[in-house]
Amino acid sequence: NAVELGEFDHYMQKEMFEQPQALGNTLEMISGAGQLQPGMFGAEAQAVFEQVDSVLILACGTSSYAGMTAKYWIEQVAGIPCNVEIASEYRYRQSVANPKQLVVVISQSGETADTLAALQHAKSLGHTHTLAICNVPESAIVRETALRFITRAGPEIGVASTKAFTTQLSALFLLTLLLAKANQRLSESDEKAYLDELRHLPVAVEKVLALEPSIKDWAQQFANKHHALFLGRGRHFPIALEGALKLKEISYIHAEAYPAGELKHGPLALVDAEMPVVVVAPNDEMLEKLKANMQEVSARGGQLYVFADGDSAVKSSEGVNVLMMPEHYGLLSPVLHVVALQLLSYHVALVKGTDVDKPRNLAKSVTVE
Ligand code: AGP
Repeated sequence: NAVELGEFDHYMQKEMFEQPQALGNTLEMISGAGQLQPGMFGAEAQAVFEQVDSVLILACGTSSYAGMTAKYWIEQVAGIPCNVEIASEYRYRQSVANPKQLVVVISQSGETADTLAALQHAKSLGHTHTLAICNVPESAIVRETALRFITRAGPEIGVASTKAFTTQLSALFLLTLLLAKANQRLSESDEKAYLDELRHLPVAVEKVLALEPSIKDWAQQFANKHHALFLGRGRHFPIALEGALKLKEISYIHAEAYPAGELKHGPLALVDAEMPVVVVAPNDEMLEKLKANMQEVSARGGQLYVFADGDSAVKSSEGVNVLMMPEHYGLLSPVLHVVALQLLSYHVALVKGTDVDKPRNLAKSVTVE
């Protein structure tokens, strides 16, 4: 039975450790490929990708953070505008529809009431180019879109979404590449290089999972705290949001995420020695800016917990805890960093003794408004 716990204590733990397999399964169609096939999104996908001039992503919760990450990819790599809206807001907002837009709905369950209603609302406004990225092939949302990509994460039982998120990201990266190709923005050599990076993801995620013992040590230091701040920049800002959501959901510690450049516009006032500040800090184009932001935190006595990578050159010191991610992963590095944040929230919840798989007040699928 695919949903038995086996050697694991919780479904969330099992599902985090299934991520290499889930990614491998989701990316199976590119396993031996030198080139991308648009058909993986549906028979009409190529024609649609050539017509669309922008992307609108609609989703809730963790799935919306996958969408936010994809916005950075789509605009940078495919060169077309991308907006992300929370489904529960979009469905009631008077928006201006653009029929040349590709509407992408992202959902693990395919049954989230607000996401389904947002899709129906988009269709009622005249949108015809619709795509679902979903983990359940027979779900309500998948039945209502013209195009679809089914992630192959397998059943996700833990309320806190983990493997659904990373497989959504892998699907969204494929979408980015296909949009870039349709837009004549992807050279053959770049296409090959990106495909190689995708194929290597399961191995890279495996290495992040191996950081568990060090992350467990950090978790001890969070368990008696009441608040935490998560910082990231660029494509890692949505990962900071996801890290904060995970911590809130299962450990009940109040957590907020900010794009680090916003610190001095408000949240810096909260920082003191009682406020752990988690920083997603890979060596990307924003690293120097981020280091300056970390300085601002240190100067106020804030305790930093930095997920860096080998090239980040961030050193541990008094009040600065650094964990080195195993690989520097360029555009796909959000996929690796989020796994580390999942582990952190899981271990904080264990120390606090909460019901990890069924956190209070929450349901796995929000099928009513
Ligand atoms: C994630 O940990 C949450 N439990 C929640 O935000 C979830 O992602 C959201 O309800 C959307 O669900 P869906 O992907 O099934 O539509």
